[in-house]
Amino acid sequence: MGFATDAIHAGQEPDPTTGAVSVPIYQTSTYEVEALGETKGWNYARTINPTRTALENNLAALEKGKRALAFASGMAAINAVFSMLKAGDHVVVSQNVYGGTFRLVDGILRNFGVEFSFLDTTDLANVSAAMKANTAMLFIETPHNPVMTLTDIAGCAALARQRGARLVVDNTFMSPYWQNPIPLGADLVVHSTTKYLNGHSDSVGGAVIAAREEDGERLHFIQKSAGAILSPFDSWLVLRGVKTLAVRMERHEENTKKIAAFLAGRPEIRAVNYPGLASHPQHALAKKQARGFGGMISFDLGGYAEAKSFLDALRLCALAESLGGVETLISHSASMTHASVPADERRRIGVTDGLVRISVGIEDVEDLIEDLTRGLQATGRTAVATGSAPSRRS
Ligand SMILES: Cc1ncc(COP(=O)(O)O)c(C=O)c1O
Repeated sequence: MGFATDAIHAGQEPDPTTGAVSVPIYQTSTYEVEALGETKGWNYARTINPTRTALENNLAALEKGKRALAFASGMAAINAVFSMLKAGDHVVVSQNVYGGTFRLVDGILRNFGVEFSFLDTTDLANVSAAMKANTAMLFIETPHNPVMTLTDIAGCAALARQRGARLVVDNTFMSPYWQNPIPLGADLVVHSTTKYLNGHSDSVGGAVIAAREEDGERLHFIQKSAGAILSPFDSWLVLRGVKTLAVRMERHEENTKKIAAFLAGRPEIRAVNYPGLASHPQHALAKKQARGFGGMISFDLGGYAEAKSFLDALRLCALAESLGGVETLISHSASMTHASVPADERRRIGVTDGLVRISVGIEDVEDLIEDLTRGLQATGRTAVATGSAPSRRS
């Protein structure tokens, strides 16, 4: 079936008891067994729950995997993936992963005898050079948060395969509507369902989709053993959100393209980062590995003072962490999503103090542009007042 059909129907048979077309919220912790040793396939809700199973089957279909597991948050999903490792393993990670992924690795996982190398995965030569005999996993996020550069998924898959390592792709920014890493060779895909999949900024959750049944089995073991499961109600919310993913993603992208063109023409802005711009250095790769460019964009206003004036003047765009909701969310990466990354490291990976990220919503784009214009005027700059020439992309 096509994507929009699968989004609405995959994993969701009408309820066998009543025929309800919306999967019921099975708000139960346990199930009565028929007789000793005879279950209907359901024993205890940490292990299995019908609402969660419907969502998991749906996400497996959308990401073209064999099995999906739903977790209490995106971070719980990422933690489950890292729980597949053992002491002595080495992992290569994109340096621009979500700040929370960096925090999990740096503050917790390094203590367990697993070695992590954060590096610029935009260049496959760096990835190849970093892989060692004990490299068990390559963890990438593409586009990179928040600088919107890309990593070549198929290229990384080939490198991982050569070394017998797993390739994991955090596909949160693109959603399965625009990008499917598994057909490109990824072994595991992770999502913060909090973002586009749910799409309404009213649920926190995560998912892992496995290309192979045996990885799915292992992840189910981790899910039931560690217990960070998605609740029945949140599973239902995400199922409901996914039904409109195709139409939402189209509108997110349509609005983002118009905003990218608007921002690229403004003198206050130093650089606009959006893979959909023909001038993006990796525009060709974006077209090769994805069906669209998504709804995330970032730009540099030159410094913290300009970013603050801009953000404080906005009335419609919500100054908030997170992304992927129907409403436009805007954030200052250095002090919000990447606050847990040390300042030197932030600067090294391009998260400058003037960088602002927009998760473009599905409102009327004219209203968004009016709000952004108000913010730009508040910076008090009509031209970039620095010694160096602005490197504006258009
Ligand atoms: C790309 C990406 N991955 C993972 C996460 C973590 O997800 P959650 O907040 O649902 O734990 C986030 C959160 O912002 C994210 O942006």
